[in-house]
Amino acid sequence: MTERASQRVLTGITTSGTPHLGNYVGAIRPAIKASLEPGVESFFFLADYHALIKCDDPARIERSRLEIAATWLAAGLDTDRVTFYRQSDIPETPELTWLLTCVTAKGQMNRAHAYKAATDANLAIGEDIDANINMGLYSYPILMAADIVLFNAHRVPVGRDQVQHIEMARDVAQRFNHLFGQGKDIFVLPRAEIEEDVAMLPGLDGRKMSKSYDNTVPLFEGGPKALKEAVARIVTDSLLPGEAKDPDSSALVTIYDAFATADQRTSLRTDLRAGLGWGDAKQRAVELIESHVGPMRARYEELMAHPERVEDALMAGAAKARAVAEPLMREVRQAVGLRKMVAAPSAKSGKAEPGKQALPVFKQYREGDGRFHFKFSAADGTLLLQGGGFAEGRESGLLIKRLKTEGIAALQGALVEVLAPLPQVEAALSALAAQDE
Ligand code: TRP
Repeated sequence: MTERASQRVLTGITTSGTPHLGNYVGAIRPAIKASLEPGVESFFFLADYHALIKCDDPARIERSRLEIAATWLAAGLDTDRVTFYRQSDIPETPELTWLLTCVTAKGQMNRAHAYKAATDANLAIGEDIDANINMGLYSYPILMAADIVLFNAHRVPVGRDQVQHIEMARDVAQRFNHLFGQGKDIFVLPRAEIEEDVAMLPGLDGRKMSKSYDNTVPLFEGGPKALKEAVARIVTDSLLPGEAKDPDSSALVTIYDAFATADQRTSLRTDLRAGLGWGDAKQRAVELIESHVGPMRARYEELMAHPERVEDALMAGAAKARAVAEPLMREVRQAVGLRKMVAAPSAKSGKAEPGKQALPVFKQYREGDGRFHFKFSAADGTLLLQGGGFAEGRESGLLIKRLKTEGIAALQGALVEVLAPLPQVEAALSALAAQDE
């Protein structure tokens, strides 16, 4: 891997809903801020292929893509600085997904959180383990890995729930490098980045603000009126105006803090302790939030009225993104052997796959008499052992297993013909055993 001067930061936003205040404070605002750091190259994209996993309503997909894109642009994303694009405009992504799928262990996908949560829920209600689970959900982490490694991202800012997926991407990238890199790292190994200093915004009921809890404050939707109504519904205790209140036990104060200066935070706390009523505190919060959100909302509405501007921005982003993805994908296709047929593969590269050490192999087969046989060949193809003639496949499997674990000692009394000098057989068996460890 060549050392780059800049760090690539990449993150995706699943386009399955309408952004709320929590999305803005927890993801959009910190990402835009981070994109302004020197030495950082940011890739932000709309994960619309991921959205299809859980949503089969085309109108909602269409609307959410526009709303989320318009939100990012309205919030001040600088598309000259940042590569901002749609996942579905990058054909290299599904192409790479397949290549990664072929080197991903199925067992690892069985353990992915999103899939496991779905199977656990099925089991809990006595359903078939895979009821209503599509292959998209199952392969979700592989598509996500492709998103990340296609751009050789170093850092991936995500919520805690996504950390396992980034680790899986790292594993897959490592495996791919090992199998096909021939000593060179094709992919950068990504690292998850959890924003520790970004407070998680509570919702109306004090739990994390989330569409699934139905406790959100809208960001732009419904205008200032909807903002005011939502803030009015934030749960507080029932202390009356004039009574001293504890500012630190209230979701309202945390939401206020997310937009306030240090001075504003202090004075709200002082006033609540001195008996400021919750109604007045809410009014203050609405005014503060509106002072930040109002100007963005105007830009948002302008963009929503002109979707073609958003489309243009995204297509320009896709061109920038593909300028990175295409050359890498060319290298990757080459590495796995999807190459132009211009010259016959040399004997050397024809025999051993690049990056892979050739190994001795056992091959089992069945003959016309219905009996089970096997052959054992050295890495260079020399036939070393030929055996079997068993009535049961299991017997021949067992013998192979013993040869692998016990070495030539297992030849004693076995139905095997030795076709090469014993030390050569012994060396081949131990090379295989070393690989299996
Ligand atoms: N799965 C992520 C989420 O739901 C979104 C996503 C898709 C993503 N691809 C990604 C995030 C790649 C980071 C990197 O939050």
